[in-house]
Amino acid sequence: MGESMGKLRRTHMCGELRPKDEGKEVVLMGWAQRERNLGSLIFVDLRDTTGITQIVFDDTIEEEVFKKAEKIRPEYVLAVKGIVRLRQSVNKDIPTGEIEVLAQELKILDEAETPPIYIKDDDNVSESMRLKYRYLDLRKPKMQSNLKLRAKAAKVVRDFFYDNNFVEIETPVLTKPTPEGARDYLVPSRVNPGQFYALPQSPQILKQLLMVSGFDRYYQIVKCFRDEDLRANRQPEFTQIDIEMSFVDVEDVIEINERFLYTLFKEVKGIELDLPIQRMTYKEAMERYGVDKPDLRFGFELVDISEVAAKCDFKVFSSTVENGGVVKGINVKGYADEFTRKDISKLEDYVKTYGAKGLAWIKITEEGVTSPIAKFLKEEELEEIFKLMDAKAGDLLLFVADKYSIVSDSLGNLRNEVARRLDIIDEDDIKAVWITEFPLFEYDEEEGRYVAKHHPFTSPMEEDIDLIETNPELVRAKAYDIVINGDEMGGGSIRINNSDLQSRMFKALGFSEEEAKEKFGFLLEAFKYGTPPHGGIAYGFDRLIMTLTKTSNIRDVIAFPKTQSATCLMTGAPTNVSEEQLKEVHIKVDVEKDE
Ligand code: AMO
Ligand code: AMP
Repeated sequence: MGESMGKLRRTHMCGELRPKDEGKEVVLMGWAQRERNLGSLIFVDLRDTTGITQIVFDDTIEEEVFKKAEKIRPEYVLAVKGIVRLRQSVNKDIPTGEIEVLAQELKILDEAETPPIYIKDDDNVSESMRLKYRYLDLRKPKMQSNLKLRAKAAKVVRDFFYDNNFVEIETPVLTKPTPEGARDYLVPSRVNPGQFYALPQSPQILKQLLMVSGFDRYYQIVKCFRDEDLRANRQPEFTQIDIEMSFVDVEDVIEINERFLYTLFKEVKGIELDLPIQRMTYKEAMERYGVDKPDLRFGFELVDISEVAAKCDFKVFSSTVENGGVVKGINVKGYADEFTRKDISKLEDYVKTYGAKGLAWIKITEEGVTSPIAKFLKEEELEEIFKLMDAKAGDLLLFVADKYSIVSDSLGNLRNEVARRLDIIDEDDIKAVWITEFPLFEYDEEEGRYVAKHHPFTSPMEEDIDLIETNPELVRAKAYDIVINGDEMGGGSIRINNSDLQSRMFKALGFSEEEAKEKFGFLLEAFKYGTPPHGGIAYGFDRLIMTLTKTSNIRDVIAFPKTQSATCLMTGAPTNVSEEQLKEVHIKVDVEKDE
């Protein structure tokens, strides 16, 4: 059992002491990071959330205390009183490395079993161990600093929006399904048998209603829940910075959000974003980068060579164009030598995961051209391709022929993959871009109908409104995403604030009047009573923190995250519940219980 602190109270933190404190009597408390017993001398590195201080026990203390110090093991919780003195051998790696504390008094506040993971950043333990023992994992300096940075960012967010007259308003967690496109998490209602709440995928409708209420500017740092397939930057519950404004159009939302992003990066990391942030239409992004979230830190842009491809003798190319497809390529400029045939065949496997049927390539060296397809191309066709792609000796050209969506998807992702493999991305570089003029609709093959690309309340661009019934695929939306370093950080839109237009939108989405009423009736009803023009945006707060901490794993910025299969390895959630509990909420489970 541990000793009590008694009268001892902490005077300093473990990361605080410096040579100017020499001679002071101090009390430190924390965890033993490691201990070295040299017989007549014991060194203990004492750690708390601010850092580490070296403690020395020698023969100047009572024998009893020295004996107690001999028992210290890693992660024991200690209180130490002692005198600050200069160290003989300075440790340049830590800020307190010039001093140490010569102990006079020691209390072992708690003992610890040998921890299953080392408390250091590069412990190389599996992520499942880290998640199972998350409370230990969180003791690591990197995790502590990530979560502190997150807290600081939250403060910057609140200060900025408060200072700009946004009102922070909480919206319910037990709510009605919101139309954000993922699956809902459902919560059964005990007092309303057979009925369910949904956890919000976002506060979308509620924030629009707050505009109807006249709040003018709203924001919230809010948990959102989406039952979707998880990836490296997705969690089933995640946090948004959610924003809505009245009497605005696209430019107004973008303007204040640029100032917000500037403030956030500046105050949290001292980084000054270039304003205005560059803009690119969705169409341009798809054409040049194949994706709607281009990473602008490197080149290798997509080039359309369909015209040459159409007339050449390489059947794959010419027949693709004949059948309405396209042929595009990327020039991996200057890196031809970095890719062997084997490497290229790995790239081919990679594009196949995006539906491409193959990857044609041309390697240009001083000696000439190597390529499985060059024999099908006439000299002048090759020349034309080289001209289009600005290709020279030392370049590697990679091509995909297929329908537009597959070419975009496979080459767009290949572009990122090639840059990753070449390790040419400058991690300190921040390249932000607004993607604008998204399509309003997207055709859903499974459902056999158009669905809203953003959500059904997004306003079409005025000049495209008349196409809603005739050419829905051509209608552009007043929707925008903010993309940083190839990741979607946030997205939003100007909303429809006219019930006729909203009805046309629902019709185009295939909702009957009854369905629209059933799903969003309260919103349509609200819109009858005077609705200001309004719009907004929501950021993925976790993703912003990932960018600010330069991590590619969303779990490294969340204290208690879930695994890729939406479980919590620490608590064991989700779990079975007792029959009684199920009965109370009127639920029967048709799954065999796991024994
Ligand atoms: P959207 O669905 O684009 O828009 O979400 C906004 C931002 O939230 C982040 N995000 C996620 N982060 C982590 N895990 C997830 N599963 C996840 N899903 C989304 C992304 C995304 O850009 N109501 C609208 C916003 C609006 O129109 O104002 C909305 O939710 O960074
Ligand atoms: P083949 O004549 O089938 O051996 O193909 C010759 C080259 O063309 C190989 O490098 C294939 O990977 C490539 N290829 C095949 N289909 C396509 C396609 N749809 N787009 C791009 N390259 C392709």
